[in-house]
Amino acid sequence: RYYGKSLPFGDSSFILGNIGFLSIEQAMADYAVLIHYLKIKLNAAKCPVIAFGGLQKLTKILRLCKPMTKDRLNHVNGWIRNSLTNLAMFDYPYPTTFLVPVPAYPVKVACSYIMNSSDPLVGLVQAAGLYYNGTKGSLKCFDVDTEFVECADPTGCGVGPDSMAWDYQACTESMMPAGSNGKTDMFPDLPFTLKMRDEYCEKKWNIVPRNDWLNVHLWGKDILTASNIVFANGSLDPWRRGGVLSSLSDSLIAVLIDGGAHHLDLRGANPLDPQSVLNARQEEVKYIQKWIEQF
Ligand SMILES: *[C@@H]1O[C@H](CO)[C@@H](O)[C@H](O)[C@H]1NC(C)=O
Ligand SMILES: *[C@@H]1O[C@H](CO)[C@@H](O)[C@H](O)[C@H]1NC(C)=O
Ligand SMILES: *[C@@H]1O[C@H](CO)[C@@H](O)[C@H](O)[C@H]1NC(C)=O
Repeated sequence: RYYGKSLPFGDSSFILGNIGFLSIEQAMADYAVLIHYLKIKLNAAKCPVIAFGGLQKLTKILRLCKPMTKDRLNHVNGWIRNSLTNLAMFDYPYPTTFLVPVPAYPVKVACSYIMNSSDPLVGLVQAAGLYYNGTKGSLKCFDVDTEFVECADPTGCGVGPDSMAWDYQACTESMMPAGSNGKTDMFPDLPFTLKMRDEYCEKKWNIVPRNDWLNVHLWGKDILTASNIVFANGSLDPWRRGGVLSSLSDSLIAVLIDGGAHHLDLRGANPLDPQSVLNARQEEVKYIQKWIEQF
């Protein structure tokens, strides 16, 4: 819903009035309706259902298309930070293509660019280029304005229609008030506060964020009354801090994927998959089988 090809109003999906149907409740209702439909269609009314989801002298060094100015410093910093956070998210054990083709374990490659370079800034730009230009890219220069767009998620929302969907949800549902300060993290001082988010979301989407709503509506981390859920926990995934890191009951199970990046277990099998993700998938299957038997 509102991601990829699933655009309920086609090209007009992201205008006010149409984007209001993008919410967790509506996506859950999609699930409910789809499951009901499939059960009838597949003559499987009594079968249990398992669902899966997860739900960017300086102009030259930086190879910028447009001249570097003092006003653009924050944007360029954000562009660089965005490249590193995304490489961390896609830190898979084999080559992938999201924006552009990147090699296996791109974080290691990006770090070796920085470590191997005699000028750290040149190495940093090479590392950022790994995300925006890939290993065999065709970019003549970096157009930081189109490659990184500031949005309600300080780590960036990507580009194209998906970025609008995620931006909207970062205003309405997912609260990510996490700036960087250069003291407790390795990034430049780029603050992002709730007030900045409020002002942005009101201007962009005419929405006043309800900061407590997710906890009120989906109970935050207080999920002990739920059952039959596996929470996979990739040690390379920057998002794991928001995850469920230990099992909460014998049917709310945390599974560790040592060396696993964002959603590695949910990707297709690959000859370069580490043993840890094979084990994690087996463990997930084991619980699925158990719950089906119990059903
Ligand atoms: C960095 O240097 C190391 C050691 O010399 C080498 O193995 C590695 O391939 C280099 N990395 C890159 C990206 O050139
Ligand atoms: C993009 O990658 C190609 C191929 O590696 C390289 O020749 C080009 O200079 C890169 N562009 C930028 C802006 O770094
Ligand atoms: C999840 O990952 C964190 C950090 O990698 C680790 O400390 C924790 O023990 C893991 N949880 C489980 C259930 O393995």
